[in-house]
This record gives sequence, structure tokens and C-alpha cells, in this order.
Amino acid sequence: MKQSVKLIAGNWKMNGLAASLGEVETLREALAAEPAACRVALCPPATLVHRLAGAVAGGGIEVGGQDCRAEASGAYTGGVSAEMLKDAGATLVILGHSERRQEFGESDLLVSSKAEAALRAGLSPIVCVGETLAQREAGEAVEVVRRQVMNSLPLALAGQAFAVAYEPVWAIGTGLTPTLEQIEEVHRAVRAAMIERLGLASAAAPILYGGSVKPENARDILAVPEVGGALVGGASLKAADFLGIIRGA
Ligand code: PGA
Repeated sequence: MKQSVKLIAGNWKMNGLAASLGEVETLREALAAEPAACRVALCPPATLVHRLAGAVAGGGIEVGGQDCRAEASGAYTGGVSAEMLKDAGATLVILGHSERRQEFGESDLLVSSKAEAALRAGLSPIVCVGETLAQREAGEAVEVVRRQVMNSLPLALAGQAFAVAYEPVWAIGTGLTPTLEQIEEVHRAVRAAMIERLGLASAAAPILYGGSVKPENARDILAVPEVGGALVGGASLKAADFLGIIRGA
């Protein structure tokens, strides 16, 4: 299957203050000196989206949010809409991360409506899926991920710019990763489900792998068929580590 250029996206989670922009400056300078062979994105907490977008302006680094509400505005105290992220300078938004699915009980249906909101606002969604350890051990990984893809991707995504991120829950922040064969098996299943749901128009949308991606394993993971990039948590917080992953793409 033909793949578009790889996307390496950093997910800072609830980390980062104004002082963290120094790491972004280091990254920007390194990429100016030696341009990346892939797309590079950073998804800081909502409080930093605007400043980070300013800090990377013209540097080829894309900026994303980590979640949004489905509504554009209204009486939702504490909520951040896709329109607000766009207004702050984001072009991407991570949706349905397992930390949100687990902690906030986000369902596939809610994730799907958030993806529609992202499109409405002009953001490209990165929709996350992935099995738990219990599901992996029960031999249900492919089936679980397939169901999440079918139910979390709205039909409106057909022909639009978006990505899916396969992140096994048990690999996030643990240092554990699936074997390359396991990654390939799930990514092929994700691609098949995407095409079944959205048609061939989704054949070029990248499928990112996420979960304990580091400079040491990035090159091998990124070479797996149907791996179209990486969603990187911990290793995206330090410019040197994130660069090590970018150089593996
Ligand atoms: P990790 O997180 O790279 O720290 O494992 C990945 C993610 O949760 O997106």
C-alpha cells in the first residue's frame, strides 16, 4: 500500500510550562540546520498551543491539541473546542487517547463526534485506538482495535486529512513494546478497517504507532509495513530524544 510521508507527533500530555519552549527552540534550530525527512508535530497542553505555535512559526513544525469537545462553544466549564484550538494556531488534534478513554470514559461514539468537530474547525484529527493487556492476552487485540476503528471514525473523514494512532494501552509509558510482527499485524488490520469504513480514499492516511517509542527502537518500528509514523509521549519532551526519533523516519 502506498504511504504518504511519515508523521512524527509528540504528545506532551499534562507536561510543559513556558520554560519548555526552550526545548522547542532547540528542536527548531536542529531541523533548520538539517530538515526532517518526515512531518513533525508537537501537541502541548492547551495552555501552550498559542505560544508554541508562535515559537515554531515558519519552522515546519505542526502544532496540535490533545483533545477537544464536540461542541463549538457553550456552557461547558473547562472545555476547549476544536475552534479554539484552531484559533490558537493548532492544525491537528489528538482524539480518543487511551488515557481519556480510561479516565474520562470516552466512548467510540464520543470520539467520532469529536473527530467531526475537528473537521468542522479545519483541524486534522489523530484518532487513537489500542487494546489493553487483558485484551491482548485474551487474543482479542485485532478484534478490539478493528471495532474501535469502525466506530471511532466518522464517515465524514472519507477523503479528508487525518491519521489513526495504534497505541497498545500496555505499551504506553511502560517501556514495553509489541514485537514488530505484532505491530504489523495490527496496522494491517487497522488499514483494512479504515478502507472498509471510509473506502479507498483513506488508503493514504497515515497509521501511527504509539507506546514507548524511543530513539533506540524508532528506526525499526518506522520501517514496519503500514507504520506511517509515531505518536511519542515521554520521549517528545526532550528535543534530543525527539530528534533521535525524527532522524529514524
Ligand atoms: P509514551 O506515550 O511514548 O510515553 O509511551 C505514548 C502516548 O501515550 O501517546
